Amino acid sequence: MAKERSNGSANLSFYIHVPYCVKRCGYCDFNTYTPGELNSSNLIQITNTYIDSALGEIEQAAKKLGNSQVETIFFGGGTPSLLPAEEVGRVITRISNLFDLDPNAEITLEANPDTVTKPFLDSIRKLGVNRISMGMQSAVPHVLKALDRTHNPENVVTSCELAKGAGFEHLSVDLIYGVPGESIDDWKTSFESAMELPINHISAYALIVEAGTKLAAQIKRGELTMPPEDETAEKYLLFDAAATSKGFDWYELSNWAKPGAESLHNKAYWNGNSWWGVGPGAHSFVNGRRWWNVKHPVKYQELIQQNKSPEQDSEVLTMENIKDEFVMLRIRTRDGIQLDKLSDKQLEVANQFKNSGHIESSTWSDSRLVLTATGRLIADRIVRELLV
Ligand SMILES: C[S@@+](CC[C@H](N)C(=O)[O-])C[C@H]1O[C@@H](n2cnc3c(N)ncnc32)[C@H](O)[C@@H]1O
Ligand code: SF4
Repeated sequence: MAKERSNGSANLSFYIHVPYCVKRCGYCDFNTYTPGELNSSNLIQITNTYIDSALGEIEQAAKKLGNSQVETIFFGGGTPSLLPAEEVGRVITRISNLFDLDPNAEITLEANPDTVTKPFLDSIRKLGVNRISMGMQSAVPHVLKALDRTHNPENVVTSCELAKGAGFEHLSVDLIYGVPGESIDDWKTSFESAMELPINHISAYALIVEAGTKLAAQIKRGELTMPPEDETAEKYLLFDAAATSKGFDWYELSNWAKPGAESLHNKAYWNGNSWWGVGPGAHSFVNGRRWWNVKHPVKYQELIQQNKSPEQDSEVLTMENIKDEFVMLRIRTRDGIQLDKLSDKQLEVANQFKNSGHIESSTWSDSRLVLTATGRLIADRIVRELLV
């Protein structure tokens, strides 16, 4: 449920999906489209008309939730750094005109290292964006090649310095580990390079081989081989120890931050707050109802132009769904789960994982269930056993 504020308005987060990329990376199955897939070579024109539609959906949101206070906005993709800065500004201005935009709102934009320029970063900083999430992925050329990325390690350093120069105090990088051909030393090179950048937040994800991607086909044909699972687990533990020693504390399974640099937008998701996802395929969650939009940008734009909702389908969560989701989301976080939120049966299961070293003993005596580093490696199994 959305948290009520003292003036009666509820808190809301906006996710703005930008469904375009110059080229699709081999591992990615996000809802994003290349100019070729859209039969157009003019990405500027595409993004411009797309933002007109996104503004239409923001107006639809305002008709339902216009008195909400907006605490975070996240431009995600796809590649939001392909947008002309003015388009980013149009979205922020429209949200600010139609909602109560917190003057200290966290406004994040995901950037690809090879699409950011100094004028772009300077402009979006002035327009109110105050956090950049950079898609670094790796610092090792052959790993970037296996991931089919378009950037090189130097682009990452240059882009982070440009972002720092533009006044972004909050800078995060995304890393991927467990990539075909990536050794333990390659992974160390990547995360040590990341920790030398002027950043205060790191997201590190184990590579998922998504069905239907180019990567899945390369693995099937034997051209690439995934590293063994225990090596990927070892990479997680190595990274967690190194991050902690450099002052980046974990606050969610895949996220580490310097004190005070945790992403408020991410926390809003994990705390079950309300958010509105704008754009094709975007998901929203407001007051226990979840819905998702039509996937294709052309269909999405048609519906908005006809003044119709782009919603494709929805579900209303039952009390039981809400309780289960609470366990699933909160167990991923360092704040963990208050023990009094668990049933006797769940406490019994959790106690066994505490005895096996997967749940912290120190926080347990504080009445909180928090996973240890090895517990985080088997978080999915622990959730399954808690929810049977
Ligand atoms: C969808 S991307 C958007 C950001 C930006 N386009 C980029 O790639 O730099 C968000 C993040 O999801 C992660 N990601 C995408 N596909 C993944 C996969 N199959 N396995 C693990 N992480 C993935 C990447 O780290 C990426 O930075
Ligand atoms: S740039 Fe990001 S969103 Fe685009 S295909 Fe690559 S990983 Fe996916």
